[in-house]
Amino acid sequence: MATNGGDEMTLYDAIGKTYAQTRRSDPRIAAKLLEILAPYHASTIVDIGAGTGSYAFALAENGYRILAVEPSATMRSQAASHPSIQWINACGEKLPLPAQKADVAIIMLAFHHFHNYQKVLQEIHRVTGGGPVVMFTYDPKMISSFWLTQYFPSFITDVQSTFLPIATLTSKIELIINAVVNIIPFPLPNDLSDSFAAVGWSRPELYLEESIRNGISTFSKLTDDELEQGLSSLYQDLEIGVWDHKYGHLRQQKQYDVGYRFLYTTA
Ligand SMILES: C[S@@+](CC[C@H](N)C(=O)[O-])C[C@H]1O[C@@H](n2cnc3c(N)ncnc32)[C@H](O)[C@@H]1O
Repeated sequence: MATNGGDEMTLYDAIGKTYAQTRRSDPRIAAKLLEILAPYHASTIVDIGAGTGSYAFALAENGYRILAVEPSATMRSQAASHPSIQWINACGEKLPLPAQKADVAIIMLAFHHFHNYQKVLQEIHRVTGGGPVVMFTYDPKMISSFWLTQYFPSFITDVQSTFLPIATLTSKIELIINAVVNIIPFPLPNDLSDSFAAVGWSRPELYLEESIRNGISTFSKLTDDELEQGLSSLYQDLEIGVWDHKYGHLRQQKQYDVGYRFLYTTA
């Protein structure tokens, strides 16, 4: 398959070296994705920003044929191979695919990384022939209520400048894809196996593990001082019981709405 801009060093070439170790697909997220996809009766799905292919693999195992689009060689190199997954070295802004090659597009925790999301949506519209889009993303207005920001305050500005407000995102998709966007909140289970940013909502000790932090792009943007200060403060609060005094009730909860959302379009 032709390449497109994927030969340059990407952010995930730098930060994604151990991604597949901590960012395994979560079965509850995969199940919800399959449930949303079912009514579309699709056979070929284009996965934009497929990463190491964890969700592509889950879909392929359920009978879908996947076009996995990923610009980072480091990420692609960690993918488990599957006969129904074709890997494409490209950015979503310029897909080296003919019109109507796929039935549906998915974007799993990747939209906020795109340089030009309007172009990506236009490309999706072309490649799916006006087909549906399913997205897993985060509602940035929820970030300031997440306890982790007490230790890493710059997460608030980072998330708010990285993720589009859900209302803006919805109207952009509706305009470019020409379809209605439906939103489903996705409360995170307390034993999430895909260790993205809010994985430790009830397991704060996870953030003390370097391997977990290495799979979370938000941590890579902190200065050394911010990281050191936040970690030592969290470590201390856990040692002396301050964290449990304030947030210990979360340890008893099975799930919690940190702000993750599925978006999917209907005609
Ligand atoms: C947080 S990872 C998510 C990977 C995968 N979807 C998952 O859920 O595990 C974001 C991915 O988007 C990719 N990405 C960044 N910019 C992109 C672009 N312009 N087009 C396509 N993918 C891009 C990154 O290389 C990275 O692999």
